[in-house]
Amino acid sequence: MADDQGNGNAARVSGIATADRSHVPQRRRAAFAACGAVLAGLLAVAAPAAAQERFSLYVPSPQSVAEAMAKMANVGKSDVVVDLGSGDGRIVTTAARLHGARGFGVEINPELVELASSLAKKSGVGDRVSFIHQNVFDTDLRKATVVNMYLFPELMRLLRPKLLNELQPGTRIVSHDFGLGTWEPDEQLTFFAPDKFGGAGADARISLWIVPAKIDGYWNWSLPVGGQSMAYASIVEQRFQVGEGIVRVGNRRGTFSDLRLRGDQISFGLRMTLDPGVSVMHEFRGTVKGGTIEGTARVTADGGKTVELPWRATRSTSTTYFQPTGLAAK
Ligand SMILES: C[S@@+](CC[C@H](N)C(=O)[O-])C[C@H]1O[C@@H](n2cnc3c(N)ncnc32)[C@H](O)[C@@H]1O
Repeated sequence: MADDQGNGNAARVSGIATADRSHVPQRRRAAFAACGAVLAGLLAVAAPAAAQERFSLYVPSPQSVAEAMAKMANVGKSDVVVDLGSGDGRIVTTAARLHGARGFGVEINPELVELASSLAKKSGVGDRVSFIHQNVFDTDLRKATVVNMYLFPELMRLLRPKLLNELQPGTRIVSHDFGLGTWEPDEQLTFFAPDKFGGAGADARISLWIVPAKIDGYWNWSLPVGGQSMAYASIVEQRFQVGEGIVRVGNRRGTFSDLRLRGDQISFGLRMTLDPGVSVMHEFRGTVKGGTIEGTARVTADGGKTVELPWRATRSTSTTYFQPTGLAAK
């Protein structure tokens, strides 16, 4: 009897929902597909309350999904791939076997930890991957460059702040089927996986998030526009990989458009009137490095030609944005 990874061992682990139904006649596969949907439903809705942090319902990702997740994350040799709730280890083992990555899985069920370690050895990647008996909330994620999850959705939501706190900007997070609450994925793909639920076949949805740099707060910079140095005082409000911004230049104010982050890469537009009354379009692009952003500003004043200027913004704990203008309203 072969499981989704073609080895048949997963079915021997006690107390675990396995999905091997290759012996089942074709006409009953539809019924199992429905069971699969119920399992997904169980993951989504009906896990026992006590299991919010610790539950051991095990449903392996099919091998086709493990491979698609590694491809979506563009896994390579230099990656450290982590699977939170690693089951029989196939996600990490596949990343090591097909893409030369290193990595580790963490798993609450000790029998699965043992199984994953022995399967990794059998596939010849035992020196590059390891499996740890641990609660996902206790895992140190700081060295991960790719994090995978196929977990109860509430568990994923509960992990979201940990992911955002510990992972470096640019780290890829990939999930099978479930999301991260209101954090929209950067990419998503749904496909029919014939090997899902032990060969019953079902749709699999995989999603990718790129951890964004943290840019919430006050940022200041200067640009030479129209022959004079202009000081920009901005306030940025971030929501995951998108944001909003407002800025004051002298006594004039403007709003950013289309502020986006992909890892540490930031871009946004700004059309505003600058003294002495010229409408200026700015296109900012840069790399966030902690408290600085370095890149370019393409600036086009009304009717003029576009100039590309070096742009260096610095984060500040204070802003001149709120200072009184001293101008009486007429
Ligand atoms: C749906 S299975 C996914 C297995 C594997 N990631 C895959 O895609 O094939 C979820 C796994 O997470 C484990 N798990 C659940 N809660 C956990 C927790 N709090 N800490 C560590 N592992 C957990 C379960 O025991 C189970 O093996």
